[in-house]
Amino acid sequence: MPAAVLIGAQWGDEGKGKATDLLGPRLDYVVKFNGGNNAGHTVVVGDEKYALHLLPSGILTPGVTPVIGNGVVVDVEVLFEELEALESRGVDVSRLRVSANAHLITQYHRTLDKVTERFLGKRQIGTTGRGIGPAYADKINRVGLRMQDLFDENILRQKVEGALEQKNHLLVKVYNRRAIAVDEVVDDLLGYVERLRPMVTDTALLLHQALERDETVLFEGGQATMLDVDHGTYPFVTSSNATSGGAVTGSGIAPNRIDRVIAVIKAYTTRVGAGPFPTELFDEWGEFLSEKGHEFGTTTGRRRRTGWYDAPIARYTSRINGVTDFVLTKLDVLTGIERIPVAVAYDVDGQRFDEVPVSQSDFHHATPIYEEFPGWSEDITGAREFSDLPANAQAYVRELEAMSGSRISAIGVGPGRDEIVQLHDLLA
Ligand code: GDP
Ligand code: IMO
Ligand code: MG
Repeated sequence: MPAAVLIGAQWGDEGKGKATDLLGPRLDYVVKFNGGNNAGHTVVVGDEKYALHLLPSGILTPGVTPVIGNGVVVDVEVLFEELEALESRGVDVSRLRVSANAHLITQYHRTLDKVTERFLGKRQIGTTGRGIGPAYADKINRVGLRMQDLFDENILRQKVEGALEQKNHLLVKVYNRRAIAVDEVVDDLLGYVERLRPMVTDTALLLHQALERDETVLFEGGQATMLDVDHGTYPFVTSSNATSGGAVTGSGIAPNRIDRVIAVIKAYTTRVGAGPFPTELFDEWGEFLSEKGHEFGTTTGRRRRTGWYDAPIARYTSRINGVTDFVLTKLDVLTGIERIPVAVAYDVDGQRFDEVPVSQSDFHHATPIYEEFPGWSEDITGAREFSDLPANAQAYVRELEAMSGSRISAIGVGPGRDEIVQLHDLLA
C-alpha cells in the first residue's frame, strides 16, 4: 500500500480538494504538510458543497484520519471554526490529529500580513491576509510559537513576550498601529488548550507506524508548484514548500517512503494575486474561462486571472516534483471553443525558450508561443470512459500528455465527486 503525494501543478486551485476526495475511500490517512488557511478547497458531494481551508480534504471521508503536519501553520481560531462548521453538518471530525511541532498563526501575524501588504503599495503580493508569511518568517527566524508551547503557560508567555517585544516596535513605530498586549495573545491561545490536548501528538511517529502497517497515506499539498517559496515565481509566492519535497520535511516521513506523486493540473491556467503569468488573457477568452470555470477564490472571493494551458510549466512541475500521474481537471470548461491554444514554448525578447527560464526578468518578459488544437462542442460532463469523450477532446488530452512530461491518469469533466474519467490507477 503506497504513500502518495498530491500537489498543485500551476498557481493553485487546480481541484486538489476534489482529487483527494476522489481517492478518499481508499485512504487511511490524509496529511496536510504545508501552508495554512490560505488554501481553499471546494469539494462537491451530491448536493452538498464544502469549502475547506485549514483542514485536509480527507476529513470528509468517513474512516480517514486527517493529519495536520509539522509543516503547516495553524490559526487555532480558524481550526475550531472549521471543525464546528463541519460538525454541525454531521461530519465526524474526532479523528483529527495535529503535530506538536506545527507553528501557530496569532493575531500579530495576521495584523503584520495586512500592514506589510499595504506598505508595499504597488509592489504588493496580493496575499490572502491570513498571517501565513509572518508566521513562517517567525519559524525561520526561530521566534515562532509551536503547538506544544500551548501546554506550558510559562513557556508560552515567555515566547509571546519575546516575539512581541520586537513586533510592537515595528507595529507602532513603522506601521503606526497600536501595540498588542502579551496577555491578549496568551489568553486567546489558552482558551483553546483543553480542546486541543487530545488532538496534538507526534504525527511523524503516527504516520511512520501507519506506513509500517502498510496503510495508505496521502500527503495533500496546499497551494502549488509555481507558488512554492523555492521553485515558484519568487517573490510572488507563498511562504512554504508546496512541491513534493515539502511533504517530506512537512510531515517527518522519509523521501524513500513516497511511492507516487500526483499533480493536479487544470486544462487551462489560473492565478490569484500578483506575479508573472505568461499565458494570461485580457480579452473575451479570459472572461469566458473565468465565467464558465467559476474562477473566483474559495478563500478571498477574488476573481482569478485566467489563461491558456502552459506546457513548459507542466514539464517544470513534472520534473521538480517527480510527477508519476497528472489529474487533468476542468476539461469541461473548454467545451465550445473552436480552436484551443496551448503554449508550447516562450519568446523572450526574440529568443525561444522551450523550458521555464530561470531568470525572473526573463519569465516576466516571456510571451507564449502557441499551437492550436481543434475543439469540440458536445457536452462532456457525462463522460466516464476515455472513449466517451469526443475525438477532438481525446486528441487534445493526448497532445497535452505528450508535451507535459508525465501520463494523464484522470480527467475532470465537472465539479461533482463522480464527474471524472479514470485512465490509470493513481495509487498503483
Ligand atoms: P484546490 O484549491 O486545488 O482544491 O481547488 P479549488 O477548490 O480552490 O478550485 C477548484 C474548483 O473547481 C472547485 O470549485 C471545484 O469544485 C471545481 N472543479 C474541480 N474539478 C473540476 C472539473 O473537472 N470541472 C469543473 N467544471 N469544475 C471542477
Ligand atoms: P489552494 O490550496 C491560489 C497566493 C495568494 C498570493 C500568494 C501569497 O487553494 O490552491 P499567502 O497568503 O500564501 O502569503 O499569499 O499566494 N495563494 C494562493 N493562490 N490558491 C491557493 O491555495 C493559494 N494560497 C496562497 O493569492 O498571491
Ligand atoms: Mg483553492
